[in-house]
Amino acid sequence: MKQTLLEELHLSLTADVPFISPKFFYDDIGSHLFDVITLLEEYYPTRTEQSIMDTYRSAIAEAVGACDVLLDLGAGNCAKASQLFNSIKPKQYRALDISKEYLEAAVADLQKQFPHICMSAEAIDLSLPLAFPDIAERRKIFFFPGSSIGNYDPEKADQFFINIASECHGNGGLLIGVDLVKDHETLNLAYNDPLGVTAAFNLNILLHVNRIMGSNFNLQDWEHYAFFNEAQSRIEMHLRARSDVEVRLSSEGTKEHVIQFKAGDLIHTENSYKYTQDGFTEKIRRAGFDNIHTWTDPKKHFLVCFANAKK
Ligand code: AVJ
Repeated sequence: MKQTLLEELHLSLTADVPFISPKFFYDDIGSHLFDVITLLEEYYPTRTEQSIMDTYRSAIAEAVGACDVLLDLGAGNCAKASQLFNSIKPKQYRALDISKEYLEAAVADLQKQFPHICMSAEAIDLSLPLAFPDIAERRKIFFFPGSSIGNYDPEKADQFFINIASECHGNGGLLIGVDLVKDHETLNLAYNDPLGVTAAFNLNILLHVNRIMGSNFNLQDWEHYAFFNEAQSRIEMHLRARSDVEVRLSSEGTKEHVIQFKAGDLIHTENSYKYTQDGFTEKIRRAGFDNIHTWTDPKKHFLVCFANAKK
């Protein structure tokens, strides 16, 4: 049975370890706050990935080769993919994301600039298996930038890569951006910016949840808490209760809809996994890719990788 967002949130908030899926960050305010995060001095991933893409544009295009269809996973405003059009020259562009309205507007805009590329926008849930039977025969290039893969648990990431490799049917590949393990100070600062934008981004999830569930989370009761967990090689983001708090999960006042938090209790909101270059290339090799090309920045903060699906 397909769960509603409301059911999903109810289950995750009443679990032994309460959590909220990071997909709930991206309401209107959350999407704008994320855009501001990418402008912060401390948040290196976006600008580092951009610099790698700029520096190695022609080498990347050469490694990618022919592209019948460019599939943009989590396309957003389509800006990153559109920068590849002149070098990779896709015949077709398919933008995929959860929010269809936003995507359709972005694609319509882009279509005017690139009238010769056949474009479409599709709403998809990236946490579910992907299938593209209508273009099985064509050479597909999957584009997954921004270290979005960091949100997947390692086993989930393996499943995702196996799914993509098999959807290539021996003719296609994956162009992906991945954040790398680095000194802890740089990592921790990127998720604890002094301006407090990441804190606002994290807290805003509660406003989004209140709107979906009719719950009464009060932002004053919670604080941003983010740190690098070295054993798991991931940044963890949590919301921490500042005092004992009681939260009503729905506008119906029944008892089973009330949860108690003690001061210091956590709601886990995000994992952002960091990989080593070797660990990552091994991972995609095991999932069914070979002929792996990598590009990185001088500080080795971020990795761009293209790999062909095995024949
Ligand atoms: C969009 C998942 C790549 O993990 O760095 C940024 C989200 N969270 N700051 C990341 C995020 C806090 C971002 N990803």
